[in-house]
Amino acid sequence: MAATPQRVEPALTDKGYVPVYATGVIEQPWSSYSATDHEVWATLFARQRQILPGRACQAFLTAQDAMGMTPAQIPKFAELNRALRAATGWELIGVEGLLPELTFFEHLAARRFPVTWWIRRPEQLDYLAEPDLFHDLFGHVPLLMNPVFADYMQAYGRGGVKAHGIGEHALVNLTRLYWYTVEFGLIRQPDGLRIYGSGIVSSKGESIHCLESDAPNRIGFDLERIMRTRYRIDTFQKTYFVIDSYEQLMDATAPDFAPIYARLAGQDSIPAGDVLPTDTVFHRGSGEGWLTDGDV
Ligand code: PHE
Ligand code: CO
Repeated sequence: MAATPQRVEPALTDKGYVPVYATGVIEQPWSSYSATDHEVWATLFARQRQILPGRACQAFLTAQDAMGMTPAQIPKFAELNRALRAATGWELIGVEGLLPELTFFEHLAARRFPVTWWIRRPEQLDYLAEPDLFHDLFGHVPLLMNPVFADYMQAYGRGGVKAHGIGEHALVNLTRLYWYTVEFGLIRQPDGLRIYGSGIVSSKGESIHCLESDAPNRIGFDLERIMRTRYRIDTFQKTYFVIDSYEQLMDATAPDFAPIYARLAGQDSIPAGDVLPTDTVFHRGSGEGWLTDGDV
């Protein structure tokens, strides 16, 4: 019998907000969502779908429609799972909040995507520090319908289990790859740069900023460069990395990372906003509005 779902949110301590980790898999308590919860979903869904055509990649928009995600009500995981299973064999599982790293990797390696069961409150429409149902479902789940991206996510999970066994420095490198692809990636379509990263498509402000602002760098995907690059968790990104295709992502990440981790262990990290002479620069950021500290 599944445990009673809890809403696990970051706790305020004397060190500021710290994430709280939960491991349990829970059944989505769908009938306990309030009218307000469904309204938050509807509002955010409509707002993003208004601005994403021409900004999000076509694969994302097509897949989101194909799996039957609509603003009408918070989707039922069981219904999305029918579409996902048929398309790529992925399955959504309900969770209470962030998972410990190894648990998260193990789920991905088994083609299970953890989705936070609770949705943000109406006063948090524009920003919240932790993933919620809107970010996870709206942002991450559609591309799991895409066969190549679906395989990349599983490969990432397997790579995570392996990196966990290698050590902390390997996990830091691998987490940067997730951040700059799955969460904040851009892709080059014939008609221009488009968003595929979940952290962007679930944010109104960043969906516009990442493509239209002069401030951030837009740089061609480069595996080791990304693995060395620090990032922002509390502001828009200073740099976005651009892939040409999901096949490029698969091919570039297929080699054994162990020797790469070993080599990178001796190298300095790169500040989030730096541009290197070796970069393929689509846009050099003006840096306007950047804070000088705060890269993680
Ligand atoms: N090739 C990686 C390794 O050997 C695994 C991986 C694949 C990691 C795809 C991330 C993305 O560790
Ligand atoms: Co996410």
